[in-house]
Amino acid sequence: MSSTLKENLNIVIRTLSLPEFKDLLNKLIEIYQSGYKGLEKYAYQKRHDIKSYLKWLYKTDPESFLVAFKNNRPISFIAGCRFWQDKLYGEIGEIHELVVDKPFQGKGVGKKLLQETINNFKKDHDKIGLWVGEHNDQAIAFYKKMGFKVGGQVGKWLRMIKEI
Ligand code: ACO
Repeated sequence: MSSTLKENLNIVIRTLSLPEFKDLLNKLIEIYQSGYKGLEKYAYQKRHDIKSYLKWLYKTDPESFLVAFKNNRPISFIAGCRFWQDKLYGEIGEIHELVVDKPFQGKGVGKKLLQETINNFKKDHDKIGLWVGEHNDQAIAFYKKMGFKVGGQVGKWLRMIKEI
């Protein structure tokens, strides 16, 4: 699967084979570290932990692990699960992670990755969920703009849900 992003950005979004994922893992870790600068309390800090987390994200649902490339270089990824068991809603689509390399934030990249995932999840569900840090204002504003509503809170994590 692949699609072209905003014309002027010339970005391609696609899934990765397992060998590709392994090849790109170090780059994806860098994107995660860059994207979460200033938001450390909501992100893994140790390289080992980030690596394990990204491997878990990929394995959970490789079809829902999408990477945005600019000039063949990864700049962002989204990781979800098409069939996630939610305590309140039963089976829904879940977004586990979305992160854009810092220099590329605010250019429409996150929106395109999220839209692609929503389109994929629509086939199976009418709801999509995610957890976001309670003071991660940028991400909360982004998700609200994308139609998510706060549906609860557990500790420092806000639950957000969107009807799709
Ligand atoms: N305030 C208000 N609106 C905002 C903000 C903000 N701070 N940030 C983005 N938006 C709006 C944009 O204006 C845009 O609206 P438009 O389409 O009308 O122009 C829309 O949201 C889409 O913005 P993008 O440019 O696509 O957002 P971006 O590419 O920066 O991606 C993201 C957003 C993923 C939150 C990015 O900033 C990021 O990587 N942040 C750090 C990591 C993070 O917090 N990830 C989310 C954690 S929660 C989870 O992953 C489930």
